[in-house]
Parts: sequence; structure tokens; C-alpha cells
Amino acid sequence: MRMVDLIEKKRDGQALTDEEIQFIVSGYTKGDIPDYQMSAFLMTVFYKDMMDEEITTLTLAMANSGEMIDLSSIQGIKVDKHSTGGVGDTTTLILAPLVASVGVSVAKMSGRGLGYTGGTLDKLEAIPGFHVEIPDEDFIRLVNESHVAVIGQSGDLAPADKKLYALRDVTATVNSIPLIASSIMSKKIAAGADTIVLDVTTGEGAFMKNIDEARRLAETMVRIGHLANRQTMAVISDMSQPLGEAIGNSLEVVEAIETLRGKGPEDLMEMCYILGSQMVVLAKKADTLDEARAMLKEALESGKALDKFREMIRNQGGEESIIEAPERLLTAKYQIELPAKTAGVVQKIVANEIGIAAMLLGAGRATKEDSVDHAVGIKLHKKVGMPVKTGESLLTIYSNSESIENVKELLYKNIEIGSSGTEPELIHDIIT
Ligand code: URA
Repeated sequence: MRMVDLIEKKRDGQALTDEEIQFIVSGYTKGDIPDYQMSAFLMTVFYKDMMDEEITTLTLAMANSGEMIDLSSIQGIKVDKHSTGGVGDTTTLILAPLVASVGVSVAKMSGRGLGYTGGTLDKLEAIPGFHVEIPDEDFIRLVNESHVAVIGQSGDLAPADKKLYALRDVTATVNSIPLIASSIMSKKIAAGADTIVLDVTTGEGAFMKNIDEARRLAETMVRIGHLANRQTMAVISDMSQPLGEAIGNSLEVVEAIETLRGKGPEDLMEMCYILGSQMVVLAKKADTLDEARAMLKEALESGKALDKFREMIRNQGGEESIIEAPERLLTAKYQIELPAKTAGVVQKIVANEIGIAAMLLGAGRATKEDSVDHAVGIKLHKKVGMPVKTGESLLTIYSNSESIENVKELLYKNIEIGSSGTEPELIHDIIT
């Protein structure tokens, strides 16, 4: 088989066979297929798309390119949750302990963020002492004992995806539904969970800018999950404005603690109830979504969920005292308010641009080699649909530098105030 023939076949819009796709994935992972041929192939997929069968074969070939984690020694159904990305998305920090506190086993492998703010691992590392590099045996023991552990992806998990993602990043081929779906699902399948709850975001802060694209991505991933024998469902959620109020690593840990105390932002809380209820039902701990929601509400109100977060922090070497004094994490040198220039109603808070503003402060990475500043970020005081008076603070900037005119300018440009504005729907659709 020759790679050039396969590029030509896809270029001409034909479907590839299982054998051909496996040849491409294993050849590229081993280094037999060079980057220039793989780049050409990725671009043909970008333009010519793939059939469902091709996407499934591609996903399974990528999942099988490295270690397949075996979680069978963890009792019961293991649930994983994955978001396709957003700004201020603190849900994992809340959901993992919340759902674990009602007896659902959450064995979660997370990633670091590139662009915008950090990923879940960066956020957890804002907690002093918290370890995310844990050997597989300890990970499994913790989930068996405590129902929850959130760790970094093992180095050999879906290596084909790691290599391909790096190439897609520099060849303008990230934003392709078959490539995103296979990239995400290969890692989820290799990570071993029985059940996968997907949060497919849509809007300016997401890969999928419109609902139709998000629906196709969600349907594709759910289908792959089913074909790989994993219970899978997807929620299509809004990411036109940031979720919750905090954007930045320490700020999001503080927000997670507040939410687990029942004092978090309404949209974030609701998102956690929606995703959490699905996780509880899929794990067979409740028969209906209403029953699951009632269990989660009780866990939150009784303090069980917050206790579980404390236990998770302790188990992974973190300083649990931050639960009682989360403000200790807010160590940025400056807290700078951004006053509204006009009165009215907030019409738009462009999620990706607010994420870029947080990244410019140091909360995210522009390249893989950058380190993140856990202390910096943005705390929104106004969300879309809220009234605002002239001079009232729209948000607080947590910064370690005083000269942030570029950040302020970017924020002003991307927060629109007008005569009316309505809060966007949080959930657009559910795909099972
Ligand atoms: N996240 C991934 O893991 N892969 C993609 O392709 C896009 C988002």
C-alpha cells in the first residue's frame, strides 16, 4: 500500500477501507509516513469529510495505538465526562466530587489547556501540593476507595492522536468534525471508562460555532461510543459567553468550592446538575433524571459533595485547608475593576475573546512550552441579560502586572452593552 494512493483516493472523495485507515494510523505513529504526506491527508479529510464507518475505524486505530487502560478492577460502572472546550468551564472540578459523593465512580484522565485558560489539570495544580501524575495502580486504588480521582493522561495514551493533534495544530486542520470526533473519542476509549457523558459546546468560545455543527459532532461521537461498546450521550451546551463567572485557574478552584457550598453562579450550577444527573443515571444509581438531580441536590446541601472534594484533594496530596479559606489562592498582585462606559443591558460577552484576555494575563498557554500563572484571571460581575449602570464594575481583573491596557481594551471591545439583551439558552439539545 502506498500513502500517496490513499491521499489521492480521499482527495477524489472516496471512502477508505479499514485496512487503509489502519495502515495510515500505524504508519504515521511509527514514523514510516512523513509529516508532509500526513498533512496532505489531513487537508483532504478536512475538505472531503469521512463516512461514519471510516471515523469509527480511525478512532479505534488511534485508541489502539498505545496503552488501553483497564479499569475492570474498579467495582461498578465507571463514568467519564468530557467537554469539547470552553471558557470558564469549571464543571469537572465540581462534577467529579459531586457525582462521586452519591456513589458513582469517576476515574477521570484530563488534559492541559492550550490557548485560552488552563485545562482541568492546570486548575487542580492551582491547589498547593495537588498531584496529577499518579501511577495507574494508585489511580485505581483511589477510585475504589473514594470513588474519585482526576489525573493526567498517561504518556502512552493514544500516541497517534498526540502526534496527529500537534500536526493538525500547525496545518489548519483542527476544526474538522471527523478529526475532532476521532481525537476525543480515541482518548476516551483508551482511558477505559464504561460510560461517557459528553458536553459538546457551541458558540464563539467553542470549536463548533453553530448548533448544527455541534449536533453533527455530538451525534458522531455518540455513535462511535456505542460502536465501541461504551454507553455514551452528549449534551449540546451554550458557550457564546463564558460559563459561570470565573476565568483563570485559582479563580475557578475558588468558584468550584463556592458552587459545592451551594453559592456558585446559577448557570454553572445548572450545568453541573444536568451533566451530573446524566452521569448518575448512566451509572445506574438512579432510575430517572429527576431522581438523580434530587440525590445531587441533597449531596450538595448536606455538605457531602464538598467533603468529597476535600477528600479528593487530600488523596492527591493537596492542601485541604483551602476548602475553608479558598481566598488564600487569590494571590495576584493587582485586582483591577473594569467600569461600564455606558448604562444599559449586557448584550454580548464574546467568550473566546474573554478567554484570550485571560491568556494575555498569563492564565493560559500560547505554546505548549509556556507555563501558566495560576493566580491571574477574570471574574465577571455581569452576564448577558443583566442591567448595568455607568461606572459599575463589569468584572475584576486579577493580574500580576499593572500595565494591562491591551487586556482592558480587548475586554471593552468584546462586552457589548445595549438597550436589551437576553440570557442565552444553556442547553440546546441532548443526543443519546
Ligand atoms: N480536543 C481534542 O482532544 N481533540 C480535538 O481534536 C479537539 C479538541
